[in-house]
Amino acid sequence: MDGTTIRPATGKDLAAVEALLREAALPTDGVARILALTPGDVVVAVQGESIVGAAAIEVAGADALLRSVVVRSNGRSTGVGRAMVTQLLAEADRRRYEGVYLLTTTAGDWFPRFGFTRVERSSVPRAIAETWEFKTGCADTAVAMARRATGTSAGRRP
Ligand SMILES: CC(C)(COP(=O)(O)OP(=O)(O)OC[C@H]1O[C@@H](n2cnc3c(N)ncnc32)[C@H](O)[C@@H]1OP(=O)(O)O)[C@@H](O)C(=O)NCCC(=O)NCCS
Repeated sequence: MDGTTIRPATGKDLAAVEALLREAALPTDGVARILALTPGDVVVAVQGESIVGAAAIEVAGADALLRSVVVRSNGRSTGVGRAMVTQLLAEADRRRYEGVYLLTTTAGDWFPRFGFTRVERSSVPRAIAETWEFKTGCADTAVAMARRATGTSAGRRP
C-alpha cells in the first residue's frame, strides 16, 4: 500500500478501470455513466503512473450500491482494496445513505470486515433491486450483502 494514492477517477481513467474490471471478469456496464454523472463516486488507486485498483458507489434511492471493487491481480493483499472501500464507505456515511448494498460471487468472505452481512436478495429496497447489477448484471448465484447505517432498521422498504 506504500506509495499508493486513492483519488476520485476522471474520464481519462475509464479505459484503465474497465480493463481492470474485465481482467477480474467483473461487469463494466454503468461505470462510464457513474463517472460522467457523479465522478467522485468512482475512486482509483494509483501507484506511480499506473491505476492498480478501482471501486465505485452507485446511488439508488435512499441507498447506495457498492460495485466494481477491483485490485490488479499482482497488487492484491497489500491493503489497496481496503483503502478504497473504506474511503467510499466513509463518504456513504457522510451522505447518510440508509444502507449500502452489494452483490458478489467472489468476495463474500471479504466484505464482512467492512460491516456487510449477507441478506436475501429479495429483501433489498426496490431501488437497489432495480439497479442493472441486481436486475441483469450479476449471476443468480451472487450473494447479496448489506451494510446498514447505524440506527436504521433492517426492515424491507417499499
Ligand atoms: C476482493 C479484492 C478487491 C480485495 O482487494 P485487496 O487489495 O487484495 O484486499 P486487501 O489487501 O485490502 O485485503 C487483503 C485481505 O483480504 C483477503 N481477501 C482478499 N480477497 C478476498 C476474497 N475474494 N475473499 C475473501 N478474502 C479475501 C486476503 O486474504 C487478505 O486477508 P488478511 O487481511 O487476513 O491477510 C481483490 O482481491 C480483487 O480485486 N478481487 C477480484 C475482484 C473481486 O472479487 N471484487 C469484488 C467483487 S464485488
